[in-house]
Amino acid sequence: MTDQLEELVQQAQVDIAACGEGRALEALRVDLLGKKGRVTDLLKQLGGMAPDERKAYGERVNRAKETLAAALEARGLALASAELEARLASERIDVTLPGRGEAGGGLHPITRTINRVAEIFGEMGFEMVEGPEIEDDFHNFGALNIPDAHPARAMADTFYVLNGARLLRTHTSPVQIRAMQKRQPPIRIICPGRVYRVDSDRTHSPMFHQMEGLYVAEKVSLADLKYDIQNFLSRFFERDVEALFRPSYFPFVEPGADVHIKWTLPDGGWRWLEVLGCGVVHPKVLEAVGIDSEKYSGYAFGMGMERMAMLRYGVDDLRLFFNNDLRFLEQFR
Ligand code: DAH
Repeated sequence: MTDQLEELVQQAQVDIAACGEGRALEALRVDLLGKKGRVTDLLKQLGGMAPDERKAYGERVNRAKETLAAALEARGLALASAELEARLASERIDVTLPGRGEAGGGLHPITRTINRVAEIFGEMGFEMVEGPEIEDDFHNFGALNIPDAHPARAMADTFYVLNGARLLRTHTSPVQIRAMQKRQPPIRIICPGRVYRVDSDRTHSPMFHQMEGLYVAEKVSLADLKYDIQNFLSRFFERDVEALFRPSYFPFVEPGADVHIKWTLPDGGWRWLEVLGCGVVHPKVLEAVGIDSEKYSGYAFGMGMERMAMLRYGVDDLRLFFNNDLRFLEQFR
């Protein structure tokens, strides 16, 4: 009888250890410890025993029950964690694999144009600086010699904020003022950035991008301006561009000019196309920032980046740059 219990426990331990799966283990538990289980059966033999024998045997069977219950539980935990390990291993995501349906990104055509202009002027010795998009009247107008009654100041074309105390800059020219306030000549800078005007149609957007240029040093002349702009245009369009400097008025330059380039049309004809404004920095502008206009002179220019991008890429509607339509943008990747 004793041997029978001993044997059962030993065999059960072997079976438990060999059990490789949760449901089989549960079946084993029922077979051993369940109401009609084999260990439970042994307890039924107690009835036919002498009282002192019964006590000792009862204790042994109970200990065997505890031993087996503990073995079953330990095995159960081991199986559960092995199952979890296996699942984690099989469901592991290899983050080093390339994604499906990869699509390379690309720079926006305006960004590409700004970079291209900056690169060309960079090679000519111009340093890139930036200024705030929310400006004050002094930097945007006053210091640039734009008179109080000038139409550019009108509520109709300008976005004023803070009850008129500030405005969204209408051009990048205020960055000239900020650069000259910071240091004395020689100054040779370009300033790209967003500008804002109350204007919207096929060729105008309330927000667009300009690139400002300023070169102030001793003896800078209109000849330097013409030479540098001509050189820039030919490099930008990658051909010998014919440029025309047509006199024009900007309060912050004297003389001032609009630059037009000879543009061939699809029908074989051609026309002059305006691409930028420029001029020799007005002495009043230099004086407004404390630069000696007897000793120094300079030239400045400002050009629209959308306009340059439209010409270079043959885009006929300005608004395409702002619609974020991937069918358009993907062509510039
Ligand atoms: N600020 C002018 C505009 O927005 C463009 C311009 C013209 C800039 C002549 C200049 C310049 O620096 O010299 O229309």
